[in-house]
Amino acid sequence: SNRVMLGPLVAAIDQGTSSTRFLVFNAKTAELLSHHQVEIKQSFPKEGWVEQDPKDILQSVYECMERTCEKLTQLNIDISNIKAIGVTNQRETTIVWDKETGEPLYNAIVWLDLRTQSTVERLINKTPGRNKNHLKHKTGLPISTYFSAVKLRWLMDNVDEIHKAILTHRAMFGTIDSWLIWCLTGGKKGGVHCTDVTNASRTMLFNIHTMEWDPELCKYFDIPMEILPKVRSSSEIYGLMTSGSLSGIPISGCLGDQSAALVGQMCFQDGQAKNTYGTGCFLLRNTGAKPVMSDHGLLTTVAYKLGRDKPACYALEGSVAIAGAVVRWLKDNLGIIQTSTELEKLAASVGTSYGCYFVPAFSGLYAPYWEPSARGIICGLTQFTNKSHLAFAALEAVCFQTREIMDAMNQDSGIPLSQLQVDGGMTSNRLLMQLQADILCVPVVKPSMPETTALGAAMAAGSAEGVSVWSLNPEDLSEVTSEKFEPQINPEESEFRYARWKKAVQKSMNWET
Ligand code: G3P
Repeated sequence: SNRVMLGPLVAAIDQGTSSTRFLVFNAKTAELLSHHQVEIKQSFPKEGWVEQDPKDILQSVYECMERTCEKLTQLNIDISNIKAIGVTNQRETTIVWDKETGEPLYNAIVWLDLRTQSTVERLINKTPGRNKNHLKHKTGLPISTYFSAVKLRWLMDNVDEIHKAILTHRAMFGTIDSWLIWCLTGGKKGGVHCTDVTNASRTMLFNIHTMEWDPELCKYFDIPMEILPKVRSSSEIYGLMTSGSLSGIPISGCLGDQSAALVGQMCFQDGQAKNTYGTGCFLLRNTGAKPVMSDHGLLTTVAYKLGRDKPACYALEGSVAIAGAVVRWLKDNLGIIQTSTELEKLAASVGTSYGCYFVPAFSGLYAPYWEPSARGIICGLTQFTNKSHLAFAALEAVCFQTREIMDAMNQDSGIPLSQLQVDGGMTSNRLLMQLQADILCVPVVKPSMPETTALGAAMAAGSAEGVSVWSLNPEDLSEVTSEKFEPQINPEESEFRYARWKKAVQKSMNWET
C-alpha cells in the first residue's frame, strides 16, 4: 500500500496525574496525527495519602508508544519519520530508585499527597516569625506539602530501603521526567539521570536565580546532593531510546506539564497567560527573563529554557490542587455520575447550584492560601438541594478557584488579563467554559487542538540542537482556530456569587483550631 508522505514527525510523552498519553505531530504543520491514552491507577493507602506505582507509569508509557505506532502504521504513516520525542509530566511527584537493580524503592508520592503536613508545620514553626515564605527568595515557593523536598525527606525518614540505598550510594531521586528518561535511555545499563530546569524548580532544592541545585537548601532538608539528577535545559538531546519500536530516537525535550502548556499555547511574550484544567488547575503568566515575586500567594517558577544557550523565562503561577479531581471524586466516591459528560448534563439540567457552595479542599488549599489544614466543605444545603445542584456547585468551584488566581495575578502584575486562554481535558465541558467566562467577567478562549501540553513538549524536542526538524514559528501558528466564550451574566450577579464562595472558603480553613 502507498505510504503517506509527510516529512518529519515529532512525538511527545504526556505523563499526567490521571493518565499517560503518547502523541505524534507533523513537524511542519503541528497537526496531531495519532495518539493513545491510558488511565493511571492511584492508590490512597491512608487518609490524605496519594501514591502511584512507578513501574505502572513506565509500563503505561511503553503501551501508549507501541499502540500509537500501530495506529500510525495502519494509517500508512512510516514511524521512521519520528525524529524526536519530548517528555512532559505531572510535576513534583517524587520517586527514589536503586540505580543498580533499576527498581523503585517505594511508590511515587504524588504531588497531591498530604502525609508531610506535620513536617511542613514543624518546618514553618522553626522559621523566624513562622514564615511559610522563608525559602521563597531562592525557590519562588512557599514551604508546602506540594513540593518534592518534603516528600523526599519523608521517604528518607520512613523507608528503610531508601535510607540504606542512600548510605550505600545506590539511591537516585527524580520527578517523573527523570524516572522516565532514565528508564527509556537504558535504566541500570547506562540510563541518563537528568531533569530540566522547569521540573527542578518544583523541588524546593533548586535556586531559580543561579539555575542550580542549592547546597543550602539541600542542607536545610538534609538531602545528599549526589542523589539529585543533572539539571539540563528544556530543549536539548538528553539521550536515545534504547528499546521498543522507537529505539534509537533522541529524547530531546523535557518540560513540566504546565510549562509545556504555556509553550504549546505560544505564550512567549511577557504578560501572556494560560490556564490548564487537568487533575488540578494551573494558571501561568509569562514574566519574561525576570523572576517576579508575588505579594498575593502565587508561585514564581521557571517557565522554560528552550536550549542550552538560550535564556530562561520565568512565570507567575497560581496552582489549584483540585479541578478534574472533583469530577473523579463525584464518580468514584459518591457514585452520582458514571462519566464526566454526565456531570455536564446533570449540572446543565438545573443551571444553578441553588445557593450550594462546594469547596473541594481535599489536599488543603493551594494558591493563594497555602493552607494545608483546610478540608473540603459543601454548604448552603436545603431540603431542595439535589445531586444536580451539587454537580453544578462542583463545576462552579473550579471557576471560582480560577477567579481567585486571576485576581491575584492581576494584582501582582498591575495589568489585568483581558481574556483567558484555556486548555486541558475539562475544557471540552462547554457549560464549564461558559460558567468560567461568567465568573471571570472576561472572555475565555479555547484552541481547537486541545493537546497543547503535548504540543509544547513536541516543539521543544523538535527544535533541539541536533534535531531541528520543527520549522514552525509561533507566528505561523497564531492562526490556529479557537473558540471564544463571552461572559453572559451581569457582573453584579457574578460578584455576589463570588463573595459567597469566599465565605465558604473561609469556613473550609482552620479545621484544627
Ligand atoms: O503540579 C502538578 C501538575 O503538574 C499536575 O498537572 O495536569 O496532572 O493536573 P495535571
